[in-house]
Formats: sequence, C-alpha cells, structure tokens
Amino acid sequence: MAAPKIDLKTLKNKAKIELEKAKDLAALDEILRQYLGKKGQITLILRSLKDLSQAKRAKIGKEANEIKKLIEAQYQKKAKIFKEKSHKHSELKDWLDITRPGEKPKIGHLHPITQALKKAEEIFQAMGFTVVEGPEIETEWYNFDALNFPPDHPARDMQDTLWLKNQKLLLRTHTSPVQIRYMEKHQPPLKIIVPGRVFRSEATDASHEINFYQLEGLMVGKDISVANLKAIIEEFCRRFFGKPVKIKIRPSFFPFTEPSFEVDLLCVNCLGQGCSACQRTGWMEMMGAGMVHPNVLKNAGINPKMWQGFAFGLGFDRWVMAKHKINDIRLFYGGDLRFLKQF
Ligand code: DAH
Repeated sequence: MAAPKIDLKTLKNKAKIELEKAKDLAALDEILRQYLGKKGQITLILRSLKDLSQAKRAKIGKEANEIKKLIEAQYQKKAKIFKEKSHKHSELKDWLDITRPGEKPKIGHLHPITQALKKAEEIFQAMGFTVVEGPEIETEWYNFDALNFPPDHPARDMQDTLWLKNQKLLLRTHTSPVQIRYMEKHQPPLKIIVPGRVFRSEATDASHEINFYQLEGLMVGKDISVANLKAIIEEFCRRFFGKPVKIKIRPSFFPFTEPSFEVDLLCVNCLGQGCSACQRTGWMEMMGAGMVHPNVLKNAGINPKMWQGFAFGLGFDRWVMAKHKINDIRLFYGGDLRFLKQF
C-alpha cells in the first residue's frame, strides 16, 4: 500500500472538515456511511490490515482506529445537537397554550316567539289543556263557513285573505279552524290550545305583519261558563308575565262566539298609568274570546243542547312584544341577529 501514513492523515483532516460542515443529521449520516459504512474508507483500510506486515499493521491499525473513534465521537456530538434542535422545533410547531381562554362556539337559540310559545304551552298543559296543531293551508269551509261566517263577510275578501291560485284553498287567517277539526274527531269534555302561524293580506307596519302567530283556546263541557274563561285567562296572564295581573272583559263581536268579548289586560308596563306600550290608555288589548256559538258546535257534530264552552284567540306576537317591550312586530321576522341575540 502506497504511503498509507499520508493517506490516513489526509483522510483524517478531510473527515474532520466534512463533519464540521455537516448541517443536519442526514449529512452527518452520509459522512458516517462514507467512512465507517460497510464499504467506507476506514472500514476498507481496517479490513486490509491482515495483508500488511506486522509493523505496518500495528501502526496503520492504530491510526485508522483513532480516526474511526474520532469520527464516531464527532458524529455523536453533532448528532445529539441536531436531534435536540429538531425536537425543540417540533415542540414549537405543536405548541399549545393551555392557559389561553377557549373560543366559544357560536350557538344559536330558539326564536323569542318560539320560547314564549313553549312557555305558554307549559302553562296551559299544567292547567290540563292539550296542545293541538292544524294545517296552515285551509279550506274555505274550516276557515270561514264552519265558524259561522256569513257568505258575504268582509274577512273573506282578497284584501284580507291570501287565497291560493285555485280559489278553493287559502292560507288560514286564524287558528280557529282547528276548533272544528278537533271537535269533529273528539267528543267533549275537551280542553285544547292551538298555537300556530296565521296569514293575512296586510300592508306591514310596526303592528301588522303578513304572517304572525296566534294561540287559540277551546274548553267545552256540560257547564263551562264565562267565569271559567275569566279564571283561566287571568291565571295564564299571571303565570306568563310572572306577576299579579288585572283583566277587563268588554263586549265585542265574532261570528263564532255568542256572546263575544274583548279581553284587556291592565298594562304590565305602567300598571294603568298610561305609557307607549298601551298607547297611553293604561290597558292592553290581549285577545278575542266568547262562548262558542251553537252553530259552530253543530258544524263540528256536537250537540249544543248538551254541551257548551268558551273559546279565545290571541295574537301571540303582541304578547311577546308586551313581555319584552318590543315596539315593532317586524323585528321578529327580520332575521337581524342584533335583535335576536337579546333573548
Ligand atoms: N280568530 C279570531 C281572530 O283571528 C280571534 C278569536 C276571537 C278567536 C274570539 C276565538 C274567539 O276563539 O273566541 O281575530
């Protein structure tokens, strides 16, 4: 072997420089492979020792082993640093500040009208009423005729009622048709409420909408009277508004009740002093009501000589407006989150 001494020295320096220059673990591994791998330069030298004379073998063997150790030591030292660095780096990348306040998921909630309807349903259910629903598309019979509306009643007009194209069906203008639908299928005694959406052909303003909610009530039995109506309504108002209330019943007219009433509530806002919520009258008009007209019972297949009862119907939006002091019905249907988030 020619001038092994020089070769080994050069090899040593070369390895040293290369190890110093290595910038990452992969480069370091490559150097290790080149010198100490199966066919690495140092490995080959060590393997060829057996062909050398005793003296040379000892000398070269020693030097080559020193280089081997040097490379291994350098490798270990630098590899350790690289490994620590990459570990720290990945820790930084996945770093999680567990003290940081979480981001609240945006959760919606029920519409103020739905919330109030649920509450109203609970109150009536606690008083023994069953919650019943009916179709929003109605026939003229259920919406008008069966409820004792005369054929020429103005409520049937196109200006008030949204008729469907064929003129036989309409969008119900009130929840009262469900009285008929229910009584056709159930015999008295009965106690129901009917919450639901109704539709009118209206020009919208702060107190009128083209669709809104009503809550209908019906109680039929052997001797149900106006006294029962008053007690139930008063109790409902008290529980709904969560405070003592005062109601006033005055005469009115509806084709489906006789006698008919309008129920007013002492303004829950000003307690009768007069404020904007009650148009300075001290009273709020809360519902129509009355004793079910004998013709209505007959039309539903119930004998008016045996049974009697009361009914009422309230514009539910107005109740929610009174409860939360909302001054424009259109806010309920505008989809404005700034409004809805307040409930
Ligand atoms: N259906 C009536 C309306 O929409 C409200 C009403 C009044 C319902 C008196 C009733 C009632 O059941 O007895 O204006």
